[in-house]
Amino acid sequence: MVNDRKVAVVGCGFVGSSSAFALMQSGLFSEMVLIDVDRARAEGEALDISHGAPFAHPMRIYAGDYEDAADAAIIVVTAGAAQKPGETRLDLVNKNVAIYRSIIPRIREVGFEGILLIVSNPVDVLTYAAIKMSGLPESRVIGSGTVLDTARLQEALGDHLGVDPRDVEAYIIGEHGDSELAVWSSADVAGVPLEDFCEMRGHFDHEATEARIVDEVRHAAYEIIARKYATYYGIAMSVQRLCRAIMGDEKCILPVSSLMVGEYGLSDIAISMPTIIGRGGIECRVPISLDDEELGELHRSAAALSEVIDRAQL
Ligand code: NAI
Ligand code: 2OP
Repeated sequence: MVNDRKVAVVGCGFVGSSSAFALMQSGLFSEMVLIDVDRARAEGEALDISHGAPFAHPMRIYAGDYEDAADAAIIVVTAGAAQKPGETRLDLVNKNVAIYRSIIPRIREVGFEGILLIVSNPVDVLTYAAIKMSGLPESRVIGSGTVLDTARLQEALGDHLGVDPRDVEAYIIGEHGDSELAVWSSADVAGVPLEDFCEMRGHFDHEATEARIVDEVRHAAYEIIARKYATYYGIAMSVQRLCRAIMGDEKCILPVSSLMVGEYGLSDIAISMPTIIGRGGIECRVPISLDDEELGELHRSAAALSEVIDRAQL
């Protein structure tokens, strides 16, 4: 039996605790279990976050174990090592696959029937690993993918054009990492093709601006980690957005990471594409059109992930 008012967060470091804080404020759930190999950490975060609940929504928040998460509607997994300055997300693969080998089988053993939301990095490889290790249907294992990167792109474009970032329709797809790409060919603002909108706002140097903005998005995490050693607020809001999409059965389109089954000639990897999200998880990937250059970049991104998946022997 799934309890639609219950969420669990595995890993209570920067990302897990910020996500838990965002979820407490969202009002989406009335019960939240925090799980961490460092039990004291989970207990401390649960206590601290619970003291904010009277200002937001009534909620029971406690440190627990996998048995407590068995009936959760969503388990958010943020456990694992984070990048140190200079490290890439893919550098984390061995450590975090080993950590997932100690987590995902436990989730499987308790008979979890909800949606597994993977956040730890490298998120595409760990989404693939979680599908394999959990035995859950692919539709119920979602990687946060490039939801955060797409928010970074919308924010940068909104700032450049002086419009609300929510009105910018542009996606980052591919790996959540160094090989990700922006889909410029179909980007628009309120239905106006992006380059036309740029000209309307007095910007004409499209190629240089697009190169600068996608580079900023690709390097955003490195810039933040160089200054404060971790990123967590942006991803916490992304987790909240994803949980809202699932619990509200929104059928909204978000660029999550999921198992490809032949789309764009890709299979046996998890990678981000715009995807319809509802109460059952992944409903379907949206076959957005890509120009030849974008298709080439997507294939290079997928090849980089396939190589890491092969080496990790998943
Ligand atoms: P952190 O080091 O602050 O926290 C990690 C937590 O995981 C710690 O509390 C640790 O005790 C726990 N943990 C480790 N092994 C565990 C196990 N076997 N079972 C349960 N808990 C375990 O790291 P932070 O900054 O919270 O990052 C967590 C992960 O999230 C990293 O892999 C990071 O790269 C990733 N991340 C992903 C983002 C995305 O967009 N997908 C954005 C930001 C971070
Ligand atoms: C981020 O993009 C590090 O994946 C993390 O913020």
